[in-house]
Amino acid sequence: MNNNLNHDLETKIIHWGHTSDKSTGALATPIYQTATFAAQTVEHFEQLCRDFGYVYTRECNPNLNELELKLAMLEDGENAIVSASGMGAITSTILALVKSGDHIVSSDGIFSHTKLFMSELLLKFGVEVTFVDATNPCNIKDALKTNTKLVYIESPLNPSLDLVDIETIAQIAHENKSLLIVDSTFATPIIQKPITLGADIVIHSLTKFINGHGDTLGGAAIGSKELIDLVKWPSLPCFTGASLPPMNAWMILRGIKTLDMRMKKHCENALAVAEFLNEEEYIEEVKYPGLKSHPQHELCKTQMNGLGGGVLSFKLKDGINGLSRDEASRILINSLQLCTIATSLGEEHTLVQMNGENLIRIAIGLESSTDIINDLKQAMDKLK
Ligand SMILES: Cc1ncc(COP(=O)(O)O)c(C=O)c1O
Repeated sequence: MNNNLNHDLETKIIHWGHTSDKSTGALATPIYQTATFAAQTVEHFEQLCRDFGYVYTRECNPNLNELELKLAMLEDGENAIVSASGMGAITSTILALVKSGDHIVSSDGIFSHTKLFMSELLLKFGVEVTFVDATNPCNIKDALKTNTKLVYIESPLNPSLDLVDIETIAQIAHENKSLLIVDSTFATPIIQKPITLGADIVIHSLTKFINGHGDTLGGAAIGSKELIDLVKWPSLPCFTGASLPPMNAWMILRGIKTLDMRMKKHCENALAVAEFLNEEEYIEEVKYPGLKSHPQHELCKTQMNGLGGGVLSFKLKDGINGLSRDEASRILINSLQLCTIATSLGEEHTLVQMNGENLIRIAIGLESSTDIINDLKQAMDKLK
């Protein structure tokens, strides 16, 4: 294993946590497609159970371990746990950390399924959640109580592309002895490092940019050894059972090797598209943190290295040639020829989706930005 802290990120992203196969020399990690592992004796089995050795794939597997080592390194965490989806990571992490009678302060405007989990399911278990506009950190501070166990935020927010100030909120949460969880799916560790900014746990939907190819689901939680151990046992393997299949871990590890270069291209393309849309006469507003006109562009510079990520949202004007905003948005989206109407983000294809209040979200892919812009131009012409 070549875990050299002095290596550059491009090197670590390839080598960290990786070894060639001891028995065959295979350089690519074999896929350990097995449900269970053979022990030599009863005593050996007992020892494997005690030491978190390879006993059963829902609990531990070499492919999952390699991915966890890589993610912990990328996010500057001590430990990581992977899961079958981003939602698996979110639910397993929160269930591991709260009990009946606890309170959570959550950012409003987070991914809709996360909000549903907190507002509907946690309520059934006697956990109270207060949702606030976290783009203003004072709102978090005002909502804290003595029993606030967790502060939960997402940045950039899905789908508004508003930013939440991680460093300031980490200080506010810690003054109250609350933990801070940050869903950093839209940013990836290439452009944003929540743990370095003070977060206790970082969540990712690996389904998105980290796998990057739109062909498998996955999730992860990364943080201190102590906190991740609580998710590792018994929350994820027992309560939710949301374990990542070995094949999916292998695919995500393959995707990660090009994360650095892919992410830079996603950002470059997204900025070009955002700048184009910003100049278009039919557009009311473009939301992309990488744009100088984004109200939180200064925060984007300090928190995201000035890179806005690979997703942007925009709204058409109401009343274009007598059309309502809803009618115009539908005509525009239905006229796209290269961009695909689909949910999700962070893959090679550009995906377009209409959210509530006719906010059009584009998850920019890895195609040529000229071709994406030309597709939008020809669709915009249909509104004339
Ligand atoms: C910000 C964010 N977090 C979490 C998730 C959930 O991830 P998954 O679909 O892998 O469960 C999503 C899904 O779109 C997301 O956008």
